[in-house]
Amino acid sequence: MTGVKRIAILGSTGSIGTTALRVIARQRERFRVTALTAFSNAAGLAAQVSEWAPAFVGIVSSNGSAPPASWRRGEGTLVEAAVRDDVDIVLNAVVGAAGLDATLAALEAGKRVALANKETLVVAGALVQAACARGGGEIVPVDSEHSAILQCLGSRRPEGVRRLILTASGGPFRTWSPGEIAGAQLAEALRHPTWTMGRKVSVDSATLANKALEVIEAHFLFGLPYDRIEVVVHPQSVVHSMVEFIDGSVLAQLGVPSMELPVLYALTHPERVADEGVPRFDPVSASPLTFEAVRLDAFPALRLGLEAARAGGAAPAVFNAANEQAVALFLAGDLAFADIPARIDEALQRHGAMPAHDKAALLAADAAARSLVRRRGL
Ligand SMILES: NC(=O)c1ccc[n+]([C@@H]2O[C@H](COP(=O)([O-])OP(=O)(O)OC[C@H]3O[C@@H](n4cnc5c(N)ncnc54)[C@H](OP(=O)(O)O)[C@@H]3O)[C@@H](O)[C@H]2O)c1
Repeated sequence: MTGVKRIAILGSTGSIGTTALRVIARQRERFRVTALTAFSNAAGLAAQVSEWAPAFVGIVSSNGSAPPASWRRGEGTLVEAAVRDDVDIVLNAVVGAAGLDATLAALEAGKRVALANKETLVVAGALVQAACARGGGEIVPVDSEHSAILQCLGSRRPEGVRRLILTASGGPFRTWSPGEIAGAQLAEALRHPTWTMGRKVSVDSATLANKALEVIEAHFLFGLPYDRIEVVVHPQSVVHSMVEFIDGSVLAQLGVPSMELPVLYALTHPERVADEGVPRFDPVSASPLTFEAVRLDAFPALRLGLEAARAGGAAPAVFNAANEQAVALFLAGDLAFADIPARIDEALQRHGAMPAHDKAALLAADAAARSLVRRRGL
């Protein structure tokens, strides 16, 4: 790798954001942190600022308390950070569709976007591709499944690929009956068996909505039709995903379940750098590795997301928005677990076919879905 790369971390106080800072702390000769943003966690952000002394600090909502005068405030801070001249790589670790504008702006400005914020591609995958083409930016995925696929593909031509196989841990309710899942409590949904993550993505992993978001993400990242992207349950989360080629050969990428490697790889791709902090893999202690068919009947959010993916247009944006709103209500204790897919279903039926020709149309579909779920959730 040539030269020090300058990084903006959007969502630096979250699970991926703090993981990234841990990784970068071991690679200080390669990377410099020039911008950090958070939503409202001013104390967490202040601690990071004192360690990293970034040129730019942004906070979306100051929550009543006054942040330091040198910090930028408001929703626009994400885009401001993303397009700065002193930024080479934008790590988008924001949760939800709120990350969309910053992804688009960074790509238009020709930056590398290390993308954890999968919702960006689900809401507006075609717009993101167009922004890449116009601005000369590139997306490198942070999601472990997509990082695995990128690593398996290497420089091979897409014509040589038969299918992508995304692995799913199955979440905390992998072995539960549909009836038991319907009555799941918040603490149970947040107790993920193999990953420690933010609350929204943890609930998405319990409903398996997360895997639908990832299938859509893979479609836009790697350009394969949906009938060539499959999901298999792999409870150990050691095989991060697989690529089958047209001659029948299958390549997989393996490692212990830790986001440190995919975050590091998104910053260094296509190169690899030594990092003694990434946990080492031991095949014997990782054994046995098992695989199961996914139970679409028990996880209706995944089925709905896959249907929305195939429907295209505004349906993926509606799926995402309804899911975000329903999960927010569930996290607040205002919605039952079983009502998450029920609300998504209603939103898709009502608004899934809304116009989707540009960003304004997609955001209108997003807003309609959120509003429907909010009203029905009360
Ligand atoms: N966690 C994982 O292991 C993992 C793995 C793969 C993919 N991902 C994806 O990575 C993204 C981040 O996940 P996470 O688990 O790191 O989430 P998280 O822990 O909830 O962190 C989210 C970060 O974004 C900020 N944020 C939240 N809402 C925002 C808004 N409306 N505008 C601007 N900033 C906002 C938060 O700031 P405050 O702290 O101030 O609230 C925080 O810094 C998600 O798309 C998720 O699906 C996560």
